[in-house]
Amino acid sequence: MSWWKELRGKVKLNYSLRNHTTFKIGGPAKFFFEPEDLKDLKLLLSLSNKHKIPFFVLGAGSNILVNDKGINGIVIRLNSPYLKKIIFKNNYIEAGSGAMLHQVMYLATRHSLSGAEFLAGIPGTLGGALVMNAGIPGENIGDLVEKIMVMDYKGNIKTLNKKDIKFGYRSSNLSKYIILKARLKLIKEAKKKIKHNINRYLDYRHAAQDVSLPSAGCIFKNPKAESAGRLIDLCGLKGKEIGGACVSLKHANFILNLKCAKAGDVLKLMNLIRKRVKNKFNINLETEIKIWK
Ligand code: EPU
Repeated sequence: MSWWKELRGKVKLNYSLRNHTTFKIGGPAKFFFEPEDLKDLKLLLSLSNKHKIPFFVLGAGSNILVNDKGINGIVIRLNSPYLKKIIFKNNYIEAGSGAMLHQVMYLATRHSLSGAEFLAGIPGTLGGALVMNAGIPGENIGDLVEKIMVMDYKGNIKTLNKKDIKFGYRSSNLSKYIILKARLKLIKEAKKKIKHNINRYLDYRHAAQDVSLPSAGCIFKNPKAESAGRLIDLCGLKGKEIGGACVSLKHANFILNLKCAKAGDVLKLMNLIRKRVKNKFNINLETEIKIWK
């Protein structure tokens, strides 16, 4: 039964997700869909509901671990021009959720708008960054938000104002929606100063973090007033390998895909890390990345 035939966007069947994740791990999506516009997205949601097929929204794939068997459902990628459009009005940016953070920042710099420089080097889409309130200690994307346009799972479009949105540490109340676009408030600043700020963040990131091999960034959230990376390091786990996965020698909260790692290798390594940190510090590490089963 070809339930997807009415959709106008791109539909791919049994489509490998490996190259859509920064980890370069994961099996195929049974259905992979890029909606053409909001009407198409709404139709997909009603079909998914009617045929009882679960769906998953993919951003830049930089914070997920997809299981090796793949996804028995629909993976939605918001990749149409409408959903990636970025416009500027005075001190505001309005951008589609599929826009990449580096494009948002590049254009903000061209418009002399400052405030988003801390996002430099985070390999995400705007939508993904908003759902998980991406950022660095002390600066989170949620702080910039004025309003967000979303679609609920029934296909209704709503605008959420700042007061309706709850952002926490790497969390938000947005995961019950599909984010369509957002308005961020920035401040006027000299381009030279903005570029200087971006370079400062990038330098720090390159010095501290491991970008030598595929990974999903920090695997665990930082416990209160602690660094997960420091705790894992103190457990002597840097360089620990399971299958093709390895704890980075540079930053212990990064797991690298050394050689054709399986999701199972990463999960085993995560379990080992959790156990060791619990035994040594009596701290339960909370997973930051999303695991797609
Ligand atoms: N440290 C170690 N050993 C390690 C790693 C870190 O001793 O292997 C120490 C560092 O020397 C430093 C402290 O731990 O004193 C904190 O490390 P770092 O500055 O690298 O920051 P982090 O707390 O590990 C957080 C975010 C990163 C973000 C950086 C930017 C979390 C879980 N991590 O890392 O976000 O880029 O700050 O400063 O909130 C991500 O969310 O994916 C991510 C990478």
